[in-house]
Amino acid sequence: MSHSAYNESDTELFNIELQLLLEAIFLRYGYDFRNYSKAHLKRRVLYRLGISKLSTVTELQNKVLRDREFFKDFLDDLSINVTEMFRDPDFFRSLRENMLPKLRTYAYFKIWLAGCATGEEVYSLAILLQEEGLLDRGQVYATDFNQKVLEIAKEGVYQKADIEQYERNYQLSGGKKSLSDYYKSMYGSVMFNKELSNRIVFADHNLVTDSVFADVNLILCRNVLIYFEKPLQDKVLGLFYESLVPSGILCLGTKESLKFSEYGKLFEELDAKQKIFKKRIL
Ligand SMILES: C[S@@+](CC[C@H](N)C(=O)[O-])C[C@H]1O[C@@H](n2cnc3c(N)ncnc32)[C@H](O)[C@@H]1O
Repeated sequence: MSHSAYNESDTELFNIELQLLLEAIFLRYGYDFRNYSKAHLKRRVLYRLGISKLSTVTELQNKVLRDREFFKDFLDDLSINVTEMFRDPDFFRSLRENMLPKLRTYAYFKIWLAGCATGEEVYSLAILLQEEGLLDRGQVYATDFNQKVLEIAKEGVYQKADIEQYERNYQLSGGKKSLSDYYKSMYGSVMFNKELSNRIVFADHNLVTDSVFADVNLILCRNVLIYFEKPLQDKVLGLFYESLVPSGILCLGTKESLKFSEYGKLFEELDAKQKIFKKRIL
């Protein structure tokens, strides 16, 4: 523990105050972080204490309860919105070569991308669908519980400085054109074409407290479960299981797994390395 108000022997005190803070957030705002990974929460709370010149978690709780704007900033701390286009290019290659042909068999299909952050992942997916001639047949739901990032996702405007890296990722993933075919350059930024976002519905959805989507053919939820404790991972995997059609496909992040979950048996591994699974027909 590195913050000045807490030394090693105060770990128990910190943990009690943290638990009370999470209850307070749930009661006041309805956001349920009570089963998020404690290591993750601890890091983010210590960060916020450091930059807010607050000494204890109890002081932080007091401010969170009374100051909605402060809570919104703290929500940003907790939600970690790091993302990029064609993140893990091998995953997108596998999606293109091995999974999209399965979607081809449907006249119409639904995709749910949960935890979309600022949208780079869902624009990558839309490009893939476009190049495979499938975009018009699909409805894509891109959801997140952080409204601030959803607004950015809807705009589809990103920093030009990041584009070189995104172009490299896109080519490594098996891209068929140049990424520049999909955006217009503006001063210091780029705006992705509206044809890509026409098939995307951006929506506020909390994986912990909201309900299932119906009859989804493909779910992407990458680099989100990693922040949850095991029982919460199980609960969310149950949500995905209920949302998928039989033989529906689930994609997790490279550091995430179904192995230790009770849902492991209900899915078949399609690509072990890229963490892609198929809902079994029972
Ligand atoms: C690290 S980003 C992952 C973004 C993208 N999927 C990727 O892999 O690049 C995690 C996202 O999950 C969202 N998130 C965290 N908890 C959530 C919850 N309970 N419900 C919905 N979204 C959540 C965060 O707001 C954040 O945008």
